[in-house]
Amino acid sequence: MKITVVGTGYVGLVTGTCFAETGNDVTCVDIDVNKVSKLSAGQITIYEPGLEKLFERNLKEERLHFTTNLAEGIQDAQVIFLALPTPPGEDGSADLSYILKVADQLGVLLKDYKVIVDKSTVPVGTADKVHAAIAKNAKVEFDVVSNPEFLREGVAVEDFMKPDRVVIGTSSERARKVMGDLYAPFVRQGNPIIYMDEKSAELTKYAANSFLATKISFMNEIAILCEKLGADVDMVRRGIGSDDRIGKRFLFPGIGYGGSCFPKDVQALVKSSQEVQYAFRILDAVMDVNEKQKLFLLPKISNYYKGNLKGKHFALWGLAFKPNTDDIREAPALYIIDALVKEGATVSVFDPEAMPNVKGVIGEKVTYADNQYTALENADALIIATEWSVFRTPDFDKITSSLKEKVVFDGRNLFDVPRMQELGFFYESVGRKPSTI
Ligand code: UDX
Repeated sequence: MKITVVGTGYVGLVTGTCFAETGNDVTCVDIDVNKVSKLSAGQITIYEPGLEKLFERNLKEERLHFTTNLAEGIQDAQVIFLALPTPPGEDGSADLSYILKVADQLGVLLKDYKVIVDKSTVPVGTADKVHAAIAKNAKVEFDVVSNPEFLREGVAVEDFMKPDRVVIGTSSERARKVMGDLYAPFVRQGNPIIYMDEKSAELTKYAANSFLATKISFMNEIAILCEKLGADVDMVRRGIGSDDRIGKRFLFPGIGYGGSCFPKDVQALVKSSQEVQYAFRILDAVMDVNEKQKLFLLPKISNYYKGNLKGKHFALWGLAFKPNTDDIREAPALYIIDALVKEGATVSVFDPEAMPNVKGVIGEKVTYADNQYTALENADALIIATEWSVFRTPDFDKITSSLKEKVVFDGRNLFDVPRMQELGFFYESVGRKPSTI
């Protein structure tokens, strides 16, 4: 099938590359000249494990093309995906101006029947708005479909190639058939394509992300309670997770969720609710808990140093909002750095992928270490903010010899408390008893 993807950001590039991988002819359109020339020259513009190999192969085999010209890009396409940004506006609602601008242009450009697909996370009712914007100028038949993505950064290729489900929102039989054919290779293993109306598809995306964010904030509150009551959150997590109705996944407490989706989507759903005079109270609490959770380690650190962090030097492992990505949007590490520096402390950081991005945002506010161990030199304590695999089984002898004192504040519960006790560390984590020196 011939496909066009408008927008070569994270979602667009993964979508385009993965559709090319299943034999489709894909043209990606972007207004950013620089990006398009880089991509055309084989230079990938995002970090996503496994994507580069597919990208290079499909580019070489000429199933993947890039252009800045929308008219040329959509000419032969049967399906046009809109993977454009929907940044939150001042009031938290999603800004649709990028999408609607392209929709306006499409109306003029369409010469035969095409399926236009909203891939970006958009508020309920957007498919109708896109339809109206195209219809203003269109002289041919077309359908607008809502097909939200459920990609996790770091495993996006796998999520795309083997989705748990594909959600297709359309009331048109013709579009349903086209979309069903396009996705058939991705659901061979038996996972469903769930067809529904456009609005339900749009809401499904927000409901999924908000539910997952709720699970996390719930566990973060349970963790706080565990500490206060002397229980262990690891035990409680396993105890409840073995109930199929609850499920084992997404029950890990930590220092809050970040990234480009959860914070934005929860906020947007709250806003959408307000617009129909409904106060989504659970989600207000989810956001509130998450904001506080990002600084969960601070009182622990402050207590240890009796309220005085002036002149203290910390090593911080992990900057990305989660492992296997260089994304630092809403990353808890940045909030921790800010708070420590405000208290007069200095910080030396290490992250396997995210350091250039952090440097771009906070510059020389911290020192950037070459590796996880050099970050520890002369530090009073180690703080862990992201659970990268390389941090999970570190060389504790090196940690001991580099740190001034054996003190670790772990926001991701990477180590066993009894083991840390045995090794002689003061070790604070989330929802578990601390080990003492
Ligand atoms: C998420 C959704 O999972 C994905 O379906 C959607 O399309 C986009 O948003 P992503 O933001 O890439 O994906 O990350 P995810 O792996 O879901 O983690 C989100 C955040 O939750 C991270 O900050 C992570 O640290 C946190 N998290 C996750 C927890 O704190 N505890 C958990 O148990 C799981």
